[in-house]
Amino acid sequence: NAPVIAIDGPSGTGKGTVCGRLAALLGWHLLDSGALYRLVALVAERSGTAGSDEAGLSRLAREMPLEFVKGEGETPIRALLDGEDVTAAIRAESISRLASEVAAHPGVRQALLIRQRAARRPPGLIADGRDMGTVVFPDAPVKLFLTAGPEERARRRYKQLKDKGIGVNLRQLSAELAERDARDSERAISPLKPATDAVVVDTTGIDIETVMQRVLAQVTE
Ligand code: CDP
Repeated sequence: NAPVIAIDGPSGTGKGTVCGRLAALLGWHLLDSGALYRLVALVAERSGTAGSDEAGLSRLAREMPLEFVKGEGETPIRALLDGEDVTAAIRAESISRLASEVAAHPGVRQALLIRQRAARRPPGLIADGRDMGTVVFPDAPVKLFLTAGPEERARRRYKQLKDKGIGVNLRQLSAELAERDARDSERAISPLKPATDAVVVDTTGIDIETVMQRVLAQVTE
């Protein structure tokens, strides 16, 4: 089995950036598991499948014709849905909300489990998500859980969206983030929480370079 570095945590902790840089540095594959939930949400929205329709959503998760291809720079991976590039479309805030609704269904998680485990290939995998260390790759030799205070996470997320030209209201964004955190942490299946053997890295007030140093210290240990 190829080695896995599991990196979990909520939104706005720098997880995506850390994972992208680690994958580039080590030359390993990268799994953005959140993108899978976002893709199910996008297909659901387009096909008029309700966020409460577990059977319908599970079928979409199993059958959606997706492909990940190599991107560049800030976008290391591009998501293709039946050949259409939906990399930007799955980042919309409406999709963030629907993704966390979709993610609470056991049938959807089961369908995506197979796709996620298939990403584990030599020389190794950097797995970015909410349950990488707890459920998907419980045997990962390195597990990290990134956290940060809610205000700072909302500010980072705001800047991230603004840089992409997506205009949002900071207060509304904070409220949506809090709602999503609560749903992700309180759901019955695979709730967002650190694995018992994960190293927790609090990134509050710390810049991305310093976060990278701390993460690398764990990886090279
Ligand atoms: O971009 P951001 O970090 O805000 O979210 P994401 O990683 O793209 O994930 C979007 C949503 O998918 C999360 O709010 C979770 O509800 C769900 N998710 C999950 O349940 N399990 C994962 N391993 C990854 C994402």
